[in-house]
Amino acid sequence: MPCLGFGTWQSLDGDEAYNAVLSALRLGYRHIDTATAYGNEKSVGRAVADFLKEGSVKRSELFITTKLWNEEHGYENTQKAIVRSLEKLGLDYVDLYLIHWPNPLKFRSWWQKANAESWKAMEEAYEAGKLKAIGLSNFCERHIDELLKTAKIKPMVNQIKVCPGQPQTELASYSRNLGMVVEGYSPLGTGGIFKNEEIRQIAEKYGHTIAQVCIRWSLQQNIVPLPKSVNPERIEENSKIFDFELSVEDMNRIANLKNLEIKPARNPDEAEF
Ligand code: A2P
Repeated sequence: MPCLGFGTWQSLDGDEAYNAVLSALRLGYRHIDTATAYGNEKSVGRAVADFLKEGSVKRSELFITTKLWNEEHGYENTQKAIVRSLEKLGLDYVDLYLIHWPNPLKFRSWWQKANAESWKAMEEAYEAGKLKAIGLSNFCERHIDELLKTAKIKPMVNQIKVCPGQPQTELASYSRNLGMVVEGYSPLGTGGIFKNEEIRQIAEKYGHTIAQVCIRWSLQQNIVPLPKSVNPERIEENSKIFDFELSVEDMNRIANLKNLEIKPARNPDEAEF
């Protein structure tokens, strides 16, 4: 998995998502993260197809992720959802497929069984080569433990919200100790980080931007960051994070930033969707 991903949550289907993904690919991103729920799989797929037509990169060099939406848990639903996502993306396989949330409202009284059934469908699609890797998103310790009771194939990824002030250290270690790669969405706090004075000072010290420092902070904790932007200059800026290193002290300062205008990670057992 390329260690820097490109997020597409809140990128609108149509020109916005298409142009963002095409720009990202042309600028060197090789890892694109979408989801059924983002409603933009068609545009993401179109951008991937057009980029591949340019001929500089092969499909095998790209890493495309999508996710099962909350309405579609259960064995047969998941089978159908996988086919639908592949059709929308115009791909024969995705590199990673995730259960987006562990406890959808629709399945709240039997989420454990619904996840086990979805996982079985995902294992089969993995064995059939339609999904090159399978994993989880927004799963806490209790949801992971429950899934492991019936899983034949262990989950390979947990994608969780990780941003300054919310390092999720325990859940990240727990996931990693079970062999999962940890991906972090909202590395810029969905845009909420930019008003903070302390992060501005840290960024100035390194001669980099706030966004670069935040993305670098995720990377240095072995979290795969998935920054989102629809602006080509920012997309480029966010990829230039390999030429500096944050000190341990600054890593800790960023982890402990307070009073940020960033919502806390949602409790999956209380989400209203
Ligand atoms: P835009 O898409 O208009 O560039 P996150 O990745 O944490 O979800 O944050 C995404 C938000 O941060 C979006 O509102 C995005 O806006 C904004 N953003 C992304 N990159 C930058 C950047 N380098 N500088 C300022 N804002 C950015």
